[in-house]
Amino acid sequence: MKSLHPQTLAVRAAVARTAYGENSEALFLTSGYVQPSAEASARRFAGEEDGYTYGRTGNPTVSSFEMRLAAMEGTEACMATASGMAAVMLMCFSLLKSGDHVVISQSMFGSTLKLIGSEFARFGVETSVVPQTDLAAWQAAVRPGSTRLLFAETPTNPLGEVCDIAALADLAHNAGALLCVDNCFATPALQRPVELGADMVMHSGTKYLDGQGRVMAGALCASEALVREKFLPVQKNSGMVLSPFNAWVVLKGLETLDLRMKAQSAQTLALAQWLESHPAVARVYYPGLASHPQHALAMRQMGGLGGAVLSFAVKAASPAQARARAFQVLDALQVLSLCTNLGDTKTLCTHPASTSHGKLSEAQRQAAGIGQGLIRVAVGLEHMDDIQHDLDRGLSTLA
Ligand SMILES: Cc1ncc(COP(=O)(O)O)c(C=O)c1O
Repeated sequence: MKSLHPQTLAVRAAVARTAYGENSEALFLTSGYVQPSAEASARRFAGEEDGYTYGRTGNPTVSSFEMRLAAMEGTEACMATASGMAAVMLMCFSLLKSGDHVVISQSMFGSTLKLIGSEFARFGVETSVVPQTDLAAWQAAVRPGSTRLLFAETPTNPLGEVCDIAALADLAHNAGALLCVDNCFATPALQRPVELGADMVMHSGTKYLDGQGRVMAGALCASEALVREKFLPVQKNSGMVLSPFNAWVVLKGLETLDLRMKAQSAQTLALAQWLESHPAVARVYYPGLASHPQHALAMRQMGGLGGAVLSFAVKAASPAQARARAFQVLDALQVLSLCTNLGDTKTLCTHPASTSHGKLSEAQRQAAGIGQGLIRVAVGLEHMDDIQHDLDRGLSTLA
């Protein structure tokens, strides 16, 4: 399998077919497994023989998803989890202990910041939060001897800030720490962090891996040693497992990931260019645009594509007016969805300042660059004319 192209692995990597010869991978809805003999059962429970024993410790459909995603990310192994946040939890719980230190970017997904920065602080794990794109700040935050983990998300939500994975990997390794990259926005179709030096890749499978907004899922891709020796023992006992049904949905989603990411990225670039020239728009944030501060790095790191999420700010004279104007654009939508998710074939629009970043103080939001006039668009597969026309319904009334 290893010599095959990623596109081939995305439709072929899976556990072996059953005796029935099914062409599409089977969905195994079972919580228990009949053992071939008491001796075999004992060996399996002792970890001396491979074989399924109980749904919390493994399932063939889940294994197929894990094998396929690992093949696509170029890692030796993968562990599926119930959601993206369960993957973050599993990683931190497996790798950190009291007295350890973590460095993360201030632009990470809000729940990631809260889980690591607040919840794990209760157990004596210290966290430094640094600006996403400031390599010197990452370097300065590292504490040799106690920093165990650097965790970055690139590009970020909602401003698409990009960090240099290879540079962060060097920094982590020089300090004896590991680097994990949340690859939710780029996916392995555009970016393979392990090839750039990262040790672990974290996914919210809920997003592009599913691709059609159906199920929650998550995963951690890493070396066989990390998965078997660190993640598996914790997962077995904590039970943050992916359900076989959700695994099956995401497994089938992976088959079209490459096509979707390329098509949706092309649509997003076209929409970004149109928005940049719109008289009601103050600024567009998209790594695929030459105006983006990390455009060159993004193109190098993401296979020449910018991904399928952009944000734009409407022109306004004050934060209150900006919020009213952004709401006007969102409330005028008739085709696109007002929905705080991303990674769907349907275009989803959201107002970060009152949803994903609604719990931040105004000062924190200002520091993160999330203004009241900002609208995030996760671009889907509708015809571009219809996407533009729907956004222009509200935008044209502002100009
Ligand atoms: C970048 C990023 N990471 C992690 C998560 C968490 O994933 P989940 O919602 O599957 O737990 C999300 C969810 O929106 C996300 O956008």
